[in-house]
Amino acid sequence: MAFSSRITATGSYLPENIVTNDDLAKKVDTTNEWIIERTGIKQRHICKDGELTSDIAYKAAQRLIETSKIDAQDIELIILATTTPDLTFPATATTVQAKLGAKNAFAFDIQAVCSGFVFAVSTANNFIKSGQVKNALVIGADSLSKIVNWEDRNTCVLFGDGAGAVFLEQCEEGKGIIATDLNSDGNLNSILKTNGGPSLNQLSGVIEMQGKEVFKHAVTKMSSSVNTALEKANLTKEDINLLIPHQANIRILEGVAKKLKLRDDQVIITVDKHANTSAASIPLALDEAFRGNRIKDNDIIVLEALGGGLTWGSIILKW
Ligand code: ACO
Repeated sequence: MAFSSRITATGSYLPENIVTNDDLAKKVDTTNEWIIERTGIKQRHICKDGELTSDIAYKAAQRLIETSKIDAQDIELIILATTTPDLTFPATATTVQAKLGAKNAFAFDIQAVCSGFVFAVSTANNFIKSGQVKNALVIGADSLSKIVNWEDRNTCVLFGDGAGAVFLEQCEEGKGIIATDLNSDGNLNSILKTNGGPSLNQLSGVIEMQGKEVFKHAVTKMSSSVNTALEKANLTKEDINLLIPHQANIRILEGVAKKLKLRDDQVIITVDKHANTSAASIPLALDEAFRGNRIKDNDIIVLEALGGGLTWGSIILKW
């Protein structure tokens, strides 16, 4: 019998500290109006000093476990998508594993920047499809506030910190994840990157971005990826019930939704409250949609993202 995997539980966590656009306008030459008009962002949550990616990832996973009654010892695989690991090594996923007491799992990180969650869920799905594991905890967690240049108004207004988690369990084929599409193009490395890293013998560096270039690629690449995944799933745009996109910028979200001919109420939007939380943005939005009863049984749901690399991709699932 062929298998797939389905999401059976979700959880998320946002740091307590909220930074508004007006707070940022005291530090860099910007305004609340400019940020809202160009991005849709009103506020972001930022880790307090000493609060690490593993801390927020653990809290998201812990909430998932508490609300679903999963036993941490039954978890077989943990994949953490992050660009802001606590340390160069070991993988932050292993720190989360230890905090959860998930001693029967194996754990590793995936780094595909803002596409990280889509890449991680696709990877976990393949482990489950192959029969190597029966379940997986997939977490997207980032504290990009640690690698933002807080003097650069072009980038510092865009990002926030947060974490989201899903639990994937084996199911029969035709339910759960029905198609995935992953892509990267390293020739576009330079339009979104950090200016440092371990093998340059510098710490992480800070984010550098050619915003207009990224914007140009975002709408076309994400909508074409969704079309590819829909084709693989033998579905069409008309079959989509809900789009849960990576939350980068309201204009990008609206652009993709328009290409997919979706109504406003078919798109989950959290960018106004969370800003761009990189690998965490989709599981944060998914958790909000799930807890807000926006998802119904058998709904066809599309997840899509684009990030540094460039990397981009999408997932079609039947809830
Ligand atoms: N406040 C006020 N003015 C600003 C700010 C700011 N925070 N940031 C830039 N400006 C200025 C610029 O300096 C420029 O001034 P100039 O004309 O005097 O040179 C002017 O505003 C217009 O700048 P543009 O770059 O043309 O503005 P644009 O409309 O392209 O919006 C933005 C910029 C919001 C960054 C947009 O390009 C964008 O969202 N791009 C996508 C980037 C993104 O989402 N990156 C996240 C990672 S990738 C992902 O998650 C998909």
